[in-house]
Amino acid sequence: MGAKRERWDSRAVFILAAIGSAIGLGNVWRFPYIAFKNGGGAFLIPYFFALLTAGIPVLILEMAIGQQFQAAAPGALRKAKKWFEFVGWYAILVALCIVFYYCVIMAWSLNYIVHSFTLAWAGREADFFYNDVLHLTDGPAHLGGISWQLLISLAITWIGIFLCVRKGTESVGKVVWVSVNLPLLLLIIMFLRGVTLPGAMDGIRMYLTPDWSALLKPSVWGAAYGQIFFTLSVGFGVMSAYASFRPRKSDITNNSFITGLSNSGVEFFAGFAVFAVAGYMATIMQVPVTGVEEAGLKISGPGLAFITYASAIAKLPALQQLFGVLFFVMLFSLGIDSAFSLTEAASVALADKLKFNRLKVNIVLCIIGFFGGIIFTSGAGFYWLDIVDNWMNQWGLVIVSFLECVFLGWFFNIKWLQETIDKYGEIKTGKLWIVMIKYVTPIILGIIIVTTFIQEVQHPYGGGAYPMWTLWVGGWGLVIFLFALSIFLSNLKERVKSEVVKK
Ligand code: PFF
Repeated sequence: MGAKRERWDSRAVFILAAIGSAIGLGNVWRFPYIAFKNGGGAFLIPYFFALLTAGIPVLILEMAIGQQFQAAAPGALRKAKKWFEFVGWYAILVALCIVFYYCVIMAWSLNYIVHSFTLAWAGREADFFYNDVLHLTDGPAHLGGISWQLLISLAITWIGIFLCVRKGTESVGKVVWVSVNLPLLLLIIMFLRGVTLPGAMDGIRMYLTPDWSALLKPSVWGAAYGQIFFTLSVGFGVMSAYASFRPRKSDITNNSFITGLSNSGVEFFAGFAVFAVAGYMATIMQVPVTGVEEAGLKISGPGLAFITYASAIAKLPALQQLFGVLFFVMLFSLGIDSAFSLTEAASVALADKLKFNRLKVNIVLCIIGFFGGIIFTSGAGFYWLDIVDNWMNQWGLVIVSFLECVFLGWFFNIKWLQETIDKYGEIKTGKLWIVMIKYVTPIILGIIIVTTFIQEVQHPYGGGAYPMWTLWVGGWGLVIFLFALSIFLSNLKERVKSEVVKK
Protein backbone atom coordinates (compact mmCIF):
# COMPACT_ATOMS: atom_id res chain seq x y z
CA MET A 1 0.00 0.00 0.00
CA GLY A 2 1.12 3.53 -0.71
CA ALA A 3 1.50 6.60 1.41
CA LYS A 4 -0.03 6.94 4.84
CA ARG A 5 -3.63 8.01 4.91
CA GLU A 6 -4.56 11.53 6.04
CA ARG A 7 -5.87 11.81 9.60
CA TRP A 8 -8.08 14.25 11.43
CA ASP A 9 -6.24 16.18 14.12
CA SER A 10 -8.64 14.98 16.76
CA ARG A 11 -11.92 13.25 17.30
CA ALA A 12 -13.57 16.61 17.98
CA VAL A 13 -12.58 17.87 14.57
CA PHE A 14 -14.05 14.80 12.88
CA ILE A 15 -17.33 15.22 14.76
CA LEU A 16 -17.40 18.92 13.89
CA ALA A 17 -16.85 18.16 10.22
CA ALA A 18 -19.68 15.61 10.27
CA ILE A 19 -21.97 18.05 12.08
CA GLY A 20 -20.98 20.80 9.66
CA SER A 21 -22.00 18.62 6.75
CA ALA A 22 -25.31 17.72 8.33
CA ILE A 23 -26.26 21.22 9.41
CA GLY A 24 -26.98 23.14 6.24
CA LEU A 25 -29.60 25.18 4.48
CA GLY A 26 -32.07 22.33 4.90
CA ASN A 27 -32.07 22.81 8.67
CA VAL A 28 -33.50 26.27 8.24
CA TRP A 29 -35.67 26.05 5.21
CA ARG A 30 -36.78 22.44 5.10
CA PHE A 31 -37.28 21.07 8.59
CA PRO A 32 -39.43 23.82 10.15
CA TYR A 33 -41.83 23.82 7.24
CA ILE A 34 -42.05 20.04 6.96
CA ALA A 35 -42.73 19.81 10.69
CA PHE A 36 -45.45 22.47 10.45
CA LYS A 37 -47.11 20.79 7.44
CA ASN A 38 -46.98 17.33 8.95
CA GLY A 39 -48.51 17.66 12.36
CA GLY A 40 -46.55 20.47 14.04
CA GLY A 41 -45.34 19.33 17.45
CA ALA A 42 -46.75 15.85 16.79
CA PHE A 43 -44.29 15.51 13.89
CA LEU A 44 -41.48 15.14 16.40
CA ILE A 45 -42.68 11.59 17.10
CA PRO A 46 -42.26 10.18 13.55
CA TYR A 47 -39.21 12.37 13.15
CA PHE A 48 -37.36 10.92 16.14
CA PHE A 49 -38.60 7.48 15.27
CA ALA A 50 -37.08 7.91 11.82
CA LEU A 51 -33.87 9.26 13.33
CA LEU A 52 -33.45 6.25 15.59
CA THR A 53 -34.64 3.52 13.25
CA ALA A 54 -33.07 4.72 10.01
CA GLY A 55 -31.02 7.90 10.21
CA ILE A 56 -28.56 6.94 12.90
CA PRO A 57 -28.32 3.25 11.88
CA VAL A 58 -27.41 4.25 8.31
CA LEU A 59 -25.07 6.94 9.57
CA ILE A 60 -23.33 4.26 11.64
CA LEU A 61 -23.21 2.01 8.59
CA GLU A 62 -21.67 4.67 6.35
CA MET A 63 -19.13 5.72 8.95
CA ALA A 64 -18.33 2.10 9.75
CA ILE A 65 -17.48 1.09 6.18
CA GLY A 66 -15.42 4.24 5.63
CA GLN A 67 -13.50 3.64 8.82
CA GLN A 68 -13.06 -0.11 8.57
CA PHE A 69 -12.01 -0.13 4.94
CA GLN A 70 -10.14 3.18 5.15
CA ALA A 71 -11.67 4.39 1.92
CA ALA A 72 -14.40 6.67 0.62
CA ALA A 73 -17.77 5.16 -0.32
CA PRO A 74 -16.87 3.55 -3.67
CA GLY A 75 -13.60 2.05 -2.42
CA ALA A 76 -15.12 0.94 0.86
CA LEU A 77 -18.01 -0.75 -0.88
CA ARG A 78 -15.61 -2.37 -3.34
CA LYS A 79 -13.60 -3.80 -0.49
CA ALA A 80 -16.80 -5.18 1.02
CA LYS A 81 -17.76 -6.80 -2.31
CA LYS A 82 -16.51 -5.90 -5.71
CA TRP A 83 -19.88 -5.40 -7.36
CA PHE A 84 -21.08 -3.01 -4.60
CA GLU A 85 -18.75 -0.30 -5.88
CA PHE A 86 -21.12 1.36 -8.34
CA VAL A 87 -23.44 2.34 -5.47
CA GLY A 88 -20.59 4.38 -4.02
CA TRP A 89 -19.99 6.11 -7.33
CA TYR A 90 -23.65 6.80 -7.77
CA ALA A 91 -23.63 8.47 -4.32
CA ILE A 92 -20.63 10.57 -5.31
CA LEU A 93 -22.12 11.63 -8.64
CA VAL A 94 -25.37 12.62 -6.95
CA ALA A 95 -23.31 14.57 -4.41
CA LEU A 96 -21.57 16.39 -7.25
CA CYS A 97 -24.85 17.34 -8.92
CA ILE A 98 -26.10 18.63 -5.58
CA VAL A 99 -23.01 20.69 -4.94
CA PHE A 100 -23.35 22.30 -8.39
CA TYR A 101 -26.59 23.99 -7.42
CA TYR A 102 -26.00 24.19 -3.66
CA CYS A 103 -23.16 26.59 -4.44
CA VAL A 104 -25.43 28.69 -6.62
CA ILE A 105 -27.73 29.15 -3.63
CA MET A 106 -24.68 30.23 -1.69
CA ALA A 107 -23.90 32.65 -4.52
CA TRP A 108 -27.37 34.16 -4.10
CA SER A 109 -26.57 34.61 -0.41
CA LEU A 110 -23.30 36.35 -1.29
CA ASN A 111 -25.23 38.71 -3.54
CA TYR A 112 -27.67 39.46 -0.78
CA ILE A 113 -24.87 40.19 1.66
CA VAL A 114 -23.75 42.96 -0.67
CA HIS A 115 -27.30 44.19 -1.25
CA SER A 116 -27.89 44.29 2.51
CA PHE A 117 -25.80 47.43 2.81
CA THR A 118 -28.38 49.34 0.76
CA LEU A 119 -31.35 47.11 1.57
CA ALA A 120 -31.78 46.95 -2.18
CA TRP A 121 -34.77 44.61 -1.97
CA ALA A 122 -36.82 46.75 0.43
CA GLY A 123 -40.34 47.41 -0.79
CA ARG A 124 -40.12 45.00 -3.74
CA GLU A 125 -38.88 41.75 -2.26
CA ALA A 126 -40.20 39.04 -4.58
CA ASP A 127 -39.74 41.21 -7.63
CA PHE A 128 -36.17 41.96 -6.58
CA PHE A 129 -35.31 38.30 -6.08
CA TYR A 130 -36.85 37.01 -9.28
CA ASN A 131 -35.98 39.87 -11.59
CA ASP A 132 -32.92 41.68 -10.29
CA VAL A 133 -31.06 38.71 -8.85
CA LEU A 134 -32.21 35.72 -10.88
CA HIS A 135 -33.32 37.45 -14.11
CA LEU A 136 -35.96 34.76 -14.17
CA THR A 137 -37.38 33.74 -17.55
CA ASP A 138 -40.85 32.32 -18.06
CA GLY A 139 -39.85 28.66 -17.89
CA PRO A 140 -37.00 26.14 -18.00
CA ALA A 141 -37.09 26.08 -21.79
CA HIS A 142 -35.96 29.70 -22.00
CA LEU A 143 -32.48 29.93 -20.64
CA GLY A 144 -32.21 33.72 -20.89
CA GLY A 145 -28.85 35.28 -20.21
CA ILE A 146 -26.33 34.42 -17.55
CA SER A 147 -26.27 36.78 -14.61
CA TRP A 148 -22.69 37.98 -14.38
CA GLN A 149 -23.21 39.01 -10.77
CA LEU A 150 -24.21 35.47 -9.90
CA LEU A 151 -21.38 34.10 -11.95
CA ILE A 152 -18.85 36.19 -10.03
CA SER A 153 -20.45 35.18 -6.73
CA LEU A 154 -20.29 31.56 -7.83
CA ALA A 155 -16.61 31.92 -8.64
CA ILE A 156 -15.98 33.46 -5.21
CA THR A 157 -17.91 30.63 -3.57
CA TRP A 158 -15.78 28.02 -5.32
CA ILE A 159 -12.58 29.83 -4.44
CA GLY A 160 -13.81 29.79 -0.84
CA ILE A 161 -14.49 26.07 -1.04
CA PHE A 162 -11.13 25.43 -2.57
CA LEU A 163 -9.41 27.28 0.25
CA CYS A 164 -11.29 25.15 2.77
CA VAL A 165 -10.48 21.81 1.17
CA ARG A 166 -7.08 22.51 -0.32
CA LYS A 167 -5.12 20.70 2.36
CA GLY A 168 -7.76 18.06 2.99
CA THR A 169 -8.33 17.16 6.62
CA GLU A 170 -5.73 19.66 7.73
CA SER A 171 -7.48 22.74 6.35
CA VAL A 172 -11.01 21.38 6.79
CA GLY A 173 -10.14 20.62 10.40
CA LYS A 174 -9.34 24.27 11.00
CA VAL A 175 -12.25 25.74 9.04
CA VAL A 176 -14.96 23.70 10.76
CA TRP A 177 -14.39 25.43 14.07
CA VAL A 178 -15.67 28.60 12.43
CA SER A 179 -18.04 27.20 9.84
CA VAL A 180 -19.99 25.21 12.44
CA ASN A 181 -20.00 27.71 15.25
CA LEU A 182 -20.50 30.96 13.36
CA PRO A 183 -23.86 30.08 11.81
CA LEU A 184 -25.04 28.75 15.17
CA LEU A 185 -24.16 31.99 16.84
CA LEU A 186 -25.92 33.92 14.10
CA LEU A 187 -28.93 31.65 14.37
CA ILE A 188 -29.15 32.43 18.06
CA ILE A 189 -29.05 36.13 17.25
CA MET A 190 -31.81 35.67 14.65
CA PHE A 191 -33.82 33.68 17.18
CA LEU A 192 -33.50 36.38 19.84
CA ARG A 193 -34.42 39.11 17.37
CA GLY A 194 -37.28 37.02 15.99
CA VAL A 195 -38.97 36.00 19.22
CA THR A 196 -39.03 39.57 20.52
CA LEU A 197 -40.99 40.82 17.50
CA PRO A 198 -44.75 41.39 17.69
CA GLY A 199 -46.71 38.34 16.61
CA ALA A 200 -43.74 35.98 17.07
CA MET A 201 -45.55 33.83 19.59
CA ASP A 202 -48.46 33.26 17.20
CA GLY A 203 -46.03 32.01 14.62
CA ILE A 204 -44.32 29.69 17.08
CA ARG A 205 -47.67 28.39 18.27
CA MET A 206 -48.53 27.61 14.67
CA TYR A 207 -45.21 25.76 14.26
CA LEU A 208 -45.66 23.56 17.29
CA THR A 209 -49.39 23.06 17.86
CA PRO A 210 -49.67 19.29 17.63
CA ASP A 211 -52.09 17.71 15.24
CA TRP A 212 -52.18 14.19 16.58
CA SER A 213 -54.28 12.89 13.73
CA ALA A 214 -51.22 13.43 11.52
CA LEU A 215 -49.64 10.38 13.13
CA LEU A 216 -52.16 8.20 11.35
CA LYS A 217 -51.17 9.42 7.90
CA PRO A 218 -48.51 7.38 6.05
CA SER A 219 -47.40 10.50 4.17
CA VAL A 220 -46.35 12.09 7.45
CA TRP A 221 -44.10 9.15 8.23
CA GLY A 222 -42.72 9.28 4.72
CA ALA A 223 -41.93 12.97 5.18
CA ALA A 224 -40.13 12.19 8.43
CA TYR A 225 -37.89 9.59 6.80
CA GLY A 226 -37.22 11.81 3.78
CA GLN A 227 -36.17 14.68 5.98
CA ILE A 228 -33.94 12.55 8.17
CA PHE A 229 -31.86 11.26 5.29
CA PHE A 230 -31.36 14.62 3.66
CA THR A 231 -30.58 16.43 6.87
CA LEU A 232 -28.06 13.87 8.09
CA SER A 233 -26.20 13.97 4.76
CA VAL A 234 -26.39 10.20 4.46
CA GLY A 235 -26.58 8.52 1.08
CA PHE A 236 -24.07 10.90 -0.49
CA GLY A 237 -20.85 9.23 0.44
CA VAL A 238 -19.82 12.11 2.67
CA MET A 239 -19.80 10.31 5.97
CA SER A 240 -17.79 7.37 4.63
CA ALA A 241 -15.17 9.72 3.20
CA TYR A 242 -14.88 11.63 6.46
CA ALA A 243 -14.77 8.48 8.58
CA SER A 244 -12.06 7.01 6.36
CA PHE A 245 -9.65 9.47 7.98
CA ARG A 246 -10.24 7.99 11.42
CA PRO A 247 -8.11 5.17 12.76
CA ARG A 248 -9.77 1.77 12.47
CA LYS A 249 -10.00 1.28 16.16
CA SER A 250 -12.12 4.27 17.02
CA ASP A 251 -15.63 4.85 18.20
CA ILE A 252 -18.41 5.19 15.66
CA THR A 253 -21.66 4.84 17.54
CA ASN A 254 -21.25 7.71 19.95
CA ASN A 255 -19.97 9.96 17.17
CA SER A 256 -23.06 9.13 15.12
CA PHE A 257 -25.39 9.91 17.99
CA ILE A 258 -23.63 13.18 18.70
CA THR A 259 -23.85 14.16 15.02
CA GLY A 260 -27.47 13.11 14.67
CA LEU A 261 -28.74 14.67 17.86
CA SER A 262 -26.88 17.98 17.41
CA ASN A 263 -28.21 18.28 13.91
CA SER A 264 -31.78 17.61 15.03
CA GLY A 265 -31.44 20.03 17.92
CA VAL A 266 -30.34 22.77 15.54
CA GLU A 267 -33.17 22.24 13.10
CA PHE A 268 -35.78 22.16 15.82
CA PHE A 269 -34.35 25.39 17.18
CA ALA A 270 -34.22 26.99 13.71
CA GLY A 271 -37.98 26.52 13.51
CA PHE A 272 -38.42 29.08 16.27
CA ALA A 273 -36.48 31.70 14.34
CA VAL A 274 -38.38 30.91 11.13
CA PHE A 275 -41.87 30.84 12.57
CA ALA A 276 -41.31 33.87 14.78
CA VAL A 277 -40.70 35.78 11.57
CA ALA A 278 -43.77 34.24 9.92
CA GLY A 279 -45.80 35.48 12.90
CA TYR A 280 -44.26 38.92 12.62
CA MET A 281 -45.07 39.15 8.91
CA ALA A 282 -48.65 38.08 9.61
CA THR A 283 -48.95 40.90 12.11
CA ILE A 284 -47.55 43.44 9.67
CA MET A 285 -49.72 42.24 6.81
CA GLN A 286 -52.70 42.10 9.14
CA VAL A 287 -53.61 38.57 8.22
CA PRO A 288 -54.17 35.67 10.62
CA VAL A 289 -50.94 33.76 11.10
CA THR A 290 -52.50 30.64 9.60
CA GLY A 291 -53.17 32.62 6.44
CA VAL A 292 -49.63 33.80 5.68
CA GLU A 293 -49.19 31.27 2.91
CA GLU A 294 -52.44 32.23 1.23
CA ALA A 295 -51.27 35.82 1.48
CA GLY A 296 -48.34 34.82 -0.73
CA LEU A 297 -45.59 34.39 1.86
CA LYS A 298 -43.28 31.43 1.43
CA ILE A 299 -42.17 29.73 4.62
CA SER A 300 -39.90 27.16 3.08
CA GLY A 301 -37.19 26.87 0.44
CA PRO A 302 -35.46 29.78 -1.26
CA GLY A 303 -38.63 31.89 -0.98
CA LEU A 304 -38.38 31.76 2.80
CA ALA A 305 -34.83 33.06 2.89
CA PHE A 306 -34.66 35.42 -0.05
CA ILE A 307 -38.18 36.85 0.02
CA THR A 308 -39.97 36.36 3.34
CA TYR A 309 -36.99 36.73 5.65
CA ALA A 310 -35.51 39.50 3.53
CA SER A 311 -38.82 41.31 3.67
CA ALA A 312 -39.08 40.91 7.46
CA ILE A 313 -35.55 42.27 7.82
CA ALA A 314 -36.44 45.33 5.77
CA LYS A 315 -39.42 45.89 8.07
CA LEU A 316 -37.48 45.67 11.33
CA PRO A 317 -37.74 48.70 13.55
CA ALA A 318 -33.96 49.23 13.57
CA LEU A 319 -30.58 47.93 12.36
CA GLN A 320 -32.03 46.45 9.19
CA GLN A 321 -28.74 46.51 7.30
CA LEU A 322 -26.91 44.80 10.12
CA PHE A 323 -29.50 42.04 10.41
CA GLY A 324 -29.45 41.69 6.64
CA VAL A 325 -25.72 41.08 6.62
CA LEU A 326 -25.90 38.74 9.61
CA PHE A 327 -28.72 36.68 8.15
CA PHE A 328 -27.11 36.17 4.75
CA VAL A 329 -23.70 35.50 6.27
CA MET A 330 -25.50 32.88 8.33
CA LEU A 331 -26.92 31.25 5.21
CA PHE A 332 -23.56 31.30 3.48
CA SER A 333 -21.74 29.83 6.45
CA LEU A 334 -24.48 27.24 6.98
CA GLY A 335 -23.95 26.13 3.42
CA ILE A 336 -20.20 26.15 3.08
CA ASP A 337 -19.34 23.14 5.22
CA SER A 338 -22.13 21.13 3.62
CA ALA A 339 -20.83 22.16 0.21
CA PHE A 340 -17.22 21.30 0.91
CA SER A 341 -18.21 17.99 2.48
CA LEU A 342 -19.79 17.04 -0.83
CA THR A 343 -16.64 18.14 -2.64
CA GLU A 344 -14.48 16.17 -0.23
CA ALA A 345 -16.56 13.05 -0.72
CA ALA A 346 -15.86 13.19 -4.44
CA SER A 347 -12.25 14.19 -3.99
CA VAL A 348 -11.41 11.38 -1.58
CA ALA A 349 -13.19 8.84 -3.77
CA LEU A 350 -11.27 9.91 -6.87
CA ALA A 351 -7.95 10.15 -5.08
CA ASP A 352 -8.49 6.68 -3.58
CA LYS A 353 -9.31 5.19 -6.94
CA LEU A 354 -6.90 6.90 -9.26
CA LYS A 355 -4.13 7.42 -6.72
CA PHE A 356 -3.93 11.06 -7.73
CA ASN A 357 -2.66 13.72 -5.45
CA ARG A 358 -5.54 15.20 -3.45
CA LEU A 359 -4.59 18.80 -4.11
CA LYS A 360 -4.75 18.27 -7.85
CA VAL A 361 -8.07 16.46 -7.57
CA ASN A 362 -9.41 19.33 -5.49
CA ILE A 363 -8.35 21.94 -8.03
CA VAL A 364 -9.99 20.01 -10.85
CA LEU A 365 -13.15 19.38 -8.83
CA CYS A 366 -13.55 23.02 -7.87
CA ILE A 367 -13.19 24.04 -11.52
CA ILE A 368 -15.72 21.39 -12.58
CA GLY A 369 -17.99 22.55 -9.76
CA PHE A 370 -17.88 26.11 -11.00
CA PHE A 371 -18.66 25.13 -14.60
CA GLY A 372 -21.32 22.69 -13.48
CA GLY A 373 -23.09 25.52 -11.69
CA ILE A 374 -23.20 27.94 -14.62
CA ILE A 375 -26.50 26.62 -15.98
CA PHE A 376 -28.09 27.53 -12.64
CA THR A 377 -26.96 31.14 -12.94
CA SER A 378 -28.98 31.56 -16.14
CA GLY A 379 -32.44 33.05 -16.27
CA ALA A 380 -33.91 29.55 -16.19
CA GLY A 381 -31.52 28.40 -13.47
CA PHE A 382 -34.11 28.59 -10.74
CA TYR A 383 -36.37 26.11 -12.56
CA TRP A 384 -33.54 23.72 -13.35
CA LEU A 385 -32.39 23.91 -9.77
CA ASP A 386 -35.85 22.94 -8.62
CA ILE A 387 -36.05 19.98 -11.01
CA VAL A 388 -32.55 18.64 -10.36
CA ASP A 389 -32.96 19.10 -6.61
CA ASN A 390 -36.17 17.10 -6.61
CA TRP A 391 -34.68 14.16 -8.50
CA MET A 392 -31.36 14.09 -6.73
CA ASN A 393 -33.10 13.89 -3.39
CA GLN A 394 -35.89 11.51 -4.35
CA TRP A 395 -33.78 9.23 -6.50
CA GLY A 396 -30.34 9.87 -5.15
CA LEU A 397 -29.96 9.47 -1.45
CA VAL A 398 -32.98 7.22 -0.93
CA ILE A 399 -31.80 4.72 -3.55
CA VAL A 400 -28.23 4.81 -2.26
CA SER A 401 -29.27 4.22 1.34
CA PHE A 402 -31.66 1.46 0.25
CA LEU A 403 -28.97 -0.32 -1.77
CA GLU A 404 -26.37 0.10 0.96
CA CYS A 405 -28.68 -1.54 3.47
CA VAL A 406 -29.72 -4.38 1.16
CA PHE A 407 -26.21 -5.10 -0.11
CA LEU A 408 -24.36 -4.83 3.16
CA GLY A 409 -27.19 -6.34 5.18
CA TRP A 410 -27.83 -9.34 2.95
CA PHE A 411 -24.78 -9.98 0.78
CA PHE A 412 -22.06 -9.21 3.25
CA ASN A 413 -21.03 -10.35 6.70
CA ILE A 414 -22.91 -7.63 8.52
CA LYS A 415 -22.40 -9.45 11.81
CA TRP A 416 -18.66 -8.94 11.51
CA LEU A 417 -19.22 -5.23 10.93
CA GLN A 418 -21.52 -4.99 13.93
CA GLU A 419 -19.04 -6.79 16.16
CA THR A 420 -16.24 -4.50 15.02
CA ILE A 421 -18.39 -1.43 15.62
CA ASP A 422 -19.26 -2.66 19.08
CA LYS A 423 -15.69 -3.56 19.92
CA TYR A 424 -14.62 0.07 19.76
CA GLY A 425 -17.98 1.79 20.14
CA GLU A 426 -18.92 3.62 23.29
CA ILE A 427 -22.57 2.76 22.73
CA LYS A 428 -23.27 -0.86 21.84
CA THR A 429 -25.47 -1.46 18.84
CA GLY A 430 -26.03 -5.18 19.25
CA LYS A 431 -28.52 -7.14 17.21
CA LEU A 432 -30.93 -4.25 17.08
CA TRP A 433 -28.72 -2.45 14.59
CA ILE A 434 -28.59 -5.47 12.33
CA VAL A 435 -32.39 -5.68 12.43
CA MET A 436 -32.60 -2.02 11.41
CA ILE A 437 -30.15 -2.38 8.53
CA LYS A 438 -31.51 -5.69 7.23
CA TYR A 439 -35.22 -5.18 7.66
CA VAL A 440 -36.60 -1.93 9.02
CA THR A 441 -34.71 0.66 6.95
CA PRO A 442 -34.85 -1.13 3.57
CA ILE A 443 -38.54 -1.94 3.97
CA ILE A 444 -39.39 1.66 4.78
CA LEU A 445 -37.16 3.03 2.04
CA GLY A 446 -38.57 0.49 -0.41
CA ILE A 447 -42.09 1.70 0.37
CA ILE A 448 -40.98 5.32 -0.09
CA ILE A 449 -39.35 4.49 -3.43
CA VAL A 450 -42.43 2.72 -4.77
CA THR A 451 -44.91 5.33 -3.57
CA THR A 452 -42.89 8.28 -4.88
CA PHE A 453 -42.51 6.52 -8.20
CA ILE A 454 -46.26 5.94 -8.51
CA GLN A 455 -46.94 9.51 -7.47
CA GLU A 456 -44.43 10.87 -9.97
CA VAL A 457 -45.94 8.88 -12.81
CA GLN A 458 -49.46 9.95 -11.89
CA HIS A 459 -48.65 13.57 -11.18
CA PRO A 460 -45.43 14.68 -12.88
CA TYR A 461 -43.34 17.05 -10.82
CA GLY A 462 -44.21 20.73 -10.94
CA GLY A 463 -47.94 20.21 -11.49
CA GLY A 464 -47.69 20.96 -15.21
CA ALA A 465 -45.49 24.03 -14.78
CA TYR A 466 -42.55 22.31 -16.47
CA PRO A 467 -42.61 20.81 -19.99
CA MET A 468 -42.22 17.03 -19.90
CA TRP A 469 -38.89 17.05 -21.75
CA THR A 470 -37.30 19.19 -19.03
CA LEU A 471 -38.28 16.60 -16.44
CA TRP A 472 -36.69 13.98 -18.64
CA VAL A 473 -33.48 15.91 -19.07
CA GLY A 474 -33.02 17.29 -15.54
CA GLY A 475 -34.78 14.40 -13.80
CA TRP A 476 -35.06 10.87 -15.17
CA GLY A 477 -32.42 11.36 -17.86
CA LEU A 478 -29.93 12.67 -15.35
CA VAL A 479 -30.59 9.80 -12.95
CA ILE A 480 -30.16 7.20 -15.71
CA PHE A 481 -27.00 8.94 -16.94
CA LEU A 482 -25.50 9.00 -13.44
CA PHE A 483 -26.32 5.34 -12.98
CA ALA A 484 -24.59 4.44 -16.22
CA LEU A 485 -21.61 6.60 -15.35
CA SER A 486 -21.30 5.01 -11.94
CA ILE A 487 -21.20 1.54 -13.48
CA PHE A 488 -18.53 2.79 -15.89
CA LEU A 489 -16.48 4.27 -13.03
CA SER A 490 -16.74 1.12 -10.99
CA ASN A 491 -15.21 -0.82 -13.87
CA LEU A 492 -12.47 1.71 -14.44
CA LYS A 493 -10.08 0.28 -11.90
CA GLU A 494 -9.81 -2.97 -13.76
CA ARG A 495 -8.72 -1.10 -16.85
CA VAL A 496 -6.17 1.01 -15.02
CA LYS A 497 -4.88 -2.03 -13.25
CA SER A 498 -4.62 -4.18 -16.34
CA GLU A 499 -2.83 -1.40 -18.21
CA VAL A 500 -0.33 -1.20 -15.40
CA VAL A 501 0.08 -4.94 -15.47
CA LYS A 502 0.57 -4.91 -19.24
CA LYS A 503 3.34 -2.39 -18.92
N1 PFF B 1 -27.56 18.12 5.22
C1 PFF B 1 -27.54 19.34 4.47
C2 PFF B 1 -28.72 20.19 4.83
O1 PFF B 1 -29.56 19.76 5.64
O2 PFF B 1 -28.83 21.28 4.31
C3 PFF B 1 -27.55 19.14 3.00
C4 PFF B 1 -26.54 18.18 2.54
C5 PFF B 1 -25.21 18.42 2.72
C6 PFF B 1 -26.94 17.01 2.01
C7 PFF B 1 -24.26 17.49 2.40
C8 PFF B 1 -26.02 16.09 1.66
C9 PFF B 1 -24.69 16.33 1.88
F1 PFF B 1 -23.83 15.44 1.57
